[in-house]
Amino acid sequence: MKKILSETQIKSLIEDAIDARSYSYSPYSNFQVGAALLTKSGKVYKGCNIENAAYTPTNCAERTAVFKAVSEGETEFEAIAIIGGAKGVDLNTSVVSGPCGVCRQVLQEFASDIIIIGAKSLDNFYVSSLNELLPLPFGPKNLSK
Ligand code: THU
Repeated sequence: MKKILSETQIKSLIEDAIDARSYSYSPYSNFQVGAALLTKSGKVYKGCNIENAAYTPTNCAERTAVFKAVSEGETEFEAIAIIGGAKGVDLNTSVVSGPCGVCRQVLQEFASDIIIIGAKSLDNFYVSSLNELLPLPFGPKNLSK
């Protein structure tokens, strides 16, 4: 098991995810998601979900954050905080979001042991790991000879 983040680091990452969520472009679902991805070098990349009138091009918050980071040369990740819920609804009263299957697979490509923080608020969150959320994964190692 990798090193556990401090409470301060977790809360700071959740704050970043909350901020990212404010930019959610989700006029079709009205489900707003924010993510904050901590790199091993200590940088944070934020992402929100970005929907599309044609629906299928929609990108989740987690993947927005990962793609922003990778496109700037960062490929080693420590943790990701995610906060999502319907627009205008108190998140403490709704079901906590886990990353969707596609986002789990994208995270797996770069960080099979990444810590996943699913939050409803700064004081209401779970800490898990991709190992736990995506058992028996298919990743780069499967394609190596
Ligand atoms: N969504 C995310 O951003 N992350 C997830 O892990 C699950 C779903 C977004 C996609 C879509 O814009 C909205 O939430 C409803 O599915």
